[in-house]
Amino acid sequence: MTVAGAVPLEFVDLVEVPFTVPGSRFVVQRGTGPHAGSLEVLHVRYEVPVAECLAVRLVPPGGGVAGAGPDAAQTAVRAMGGRLVADGLEIVVSGEELRVLTAAGSGWRAIGGPAPDVVPHRVPDSSRLVLTVTGATPATATDEAFRAGADAVVADWLALTPRVRPERAPMARQCWWVLGTNQIDLATPVRGAAARSAGPVRRAVVPSKRGYVALWQWDAYFIALGLRHTAPALAAEQLDIALTPGPDGQLPDVVHDTGVLASSADLPPADRARLLAAGAPTTGGEVPLTKPPLAAWAADRVLSTLPVDERAGWLRRWFPTVLRSQDWWFAASDPDGDGLPAYLHPYSSGLDDSPVFDHALPVTAPDLLAYLVVQDRILAGWCRELPDLCAHDHGLPARLLRRAARVRQGLTGLWDDDGRLFRPRAGTEPVPERTVVSLLGCFAGDATSEQLAGVLADVHDPARFGTPYPLPSVACDDTSFRREQMWRGPTWVNTGYLVAEGLERCGRPAAAAELRARILAGVEAAGGPVEYLDPGTGRRCPTATTSFGWSAALYLDLAVREEAGGQR
Ligand code: GLC
Repeated sequence: MTVAGAVPLEFVDLVEVPFTVPGSRFVVQRGTGPHAGSLEVLHVRYEVPVAECLAVRLVPPGGGVAGAGPDAAQTAVRAMGGRLVADGLEIVVSGEELRVLTAAGSGWRAIGGPAPDVVPHRVPDSSRLVLTVTGATPATATDEAFRAGADAVVADWLALTPRVRPERAPMARQCWWVLGTNQIDLATPVRGAAARSAGPVRRAVVPSKRGYVALWQWDAYFIALGLRHTAPALAAEQLDIALTPGPDGQLPDVVHDTGVLASSADLPPADRARLLAAGAPTTGGEVPLTKPPLAAWAADRVLSTLPVDERAGWLRRWFPTVLRSQDWWFAASDPDGDGLPAYLHPYSSGLDDSPVFDHALPVTAPDLLAYLVVQDRILAGWCRELPDLCAHDHGLPARLLRRAARVRQGLTGLWDDDGRLFRPRAGTEPVPERTVVSLLGCFAGDATSEQLAGVLADVHDPARFGTPYPLPSVACDDTSFRREQMWRGPTWVNTGYLVAEGLERCGRPAAAAELRARILAGVEAAGGPVEYLDPGTGRRCPTATTSFGWSAALYLDLAVREEAGGQR
């Protein structure tokens, strides 16, 4: 069991950070509770509970599966390159094949689990167990060659780690590893066709192999921002998968193995049951599900690192789709017809359980209006850059800019002088809670001095959003604030990133830089790119998943730009 040539992965502890490799759905983690001491090999799938993804449980010598107890001695396991090494055991993973190699007489036992899409291949002496997906045959490579190949995949990926300041390098390496190993092969729907017909298999970087095994629309935008520095083709591929519209131009919330999530009718049964129990709005008719209109903003930045002709190629491919998706918001998500689109469902905001949605729907929200303003301006800019984009409609750029100006005015209409914040509206009623959604009003840029002063006062007030690890999703002094509950208090990297961008666009680069530095410090305090963290301590919240795509990607993007002195 040679370890030469394998890159050590010291941050993989199999508890907070499970082991996996690029292009694989195999995930290895430590067992818990009665299974402590064992190693679990999972084969993960979209919306399938972890217990059902168990392919095999590996039990160390002397360790009973049941009754080992939470205090069972933990076998020392080292992660390196494409494998895990323990006393008498090696697990090697390359893509969709996993080999368990045990030393003769080592005492490790393998117990099969319920994962339906994995086939075990055993050799008679049972010192070697090979797992493949159903229908695949094991590679003919010797174990030696298989091991070298597995290690090379990881080494090649890590060689692309973007350059950051030396003090950020360890976390940047971990984040880059996360982006690489969160890749899976995904059968994507055919563009423009009925959304459910199966199309090509593409490389999707998922939010997390524990909990989110598919491509989520706005996650893809953020993830692409991290990938763009040294893996621009993979970055563009993420946007290309996300830009899979339905017949009316709406972009889906999620692209997954068997289709898309684009409406409340597509929700997985467990999700529907949960929402039903909570009395959520999906109990009524069908509601479209999408994510915030940030496609043009992300695309513009991702394409900025590409040569001019490549950029133009992608722009020509994406422009019609992004334009239609933008028009969709005005046509299909503006029930009162006032020209200001609104969220019909919390999921479409990306802030699933924010207190903003504790009231009537639809919600006219400052973040949504700001995103729409920015997207219309960027679309108009693309028309100027490549006039053939609107060759059949010369008036288009001017119309887009007029719409942006009108929506920008609508955003100002949400400004509350007394509360000094952009106040969302639930139905016709003002939303009482003070949340990050209000701060996101600044994303549109050109805030009035009064608006900017209000946003900055909130961002800097330690009793509200100026916590040690900002920005909390709800102001700490708001009665709805819950320190550990998803969008009801914890800090998320993406919303802070967007607010920083807004501050910069409003002419406050120093405030933006300070916020960005604190966002970086938050990921470092959490020990890795977790899904969301405690705004006071920086620790991961107990229900937050780990190795989370956009936290990793935006950490990298901010660290690269910091190193480059704010450029890029
Ligand atoms: C959660 C978040 C949502 C995100 C999804 C996948 O539902 O609230 O914003 O897109 O997870 O990461």
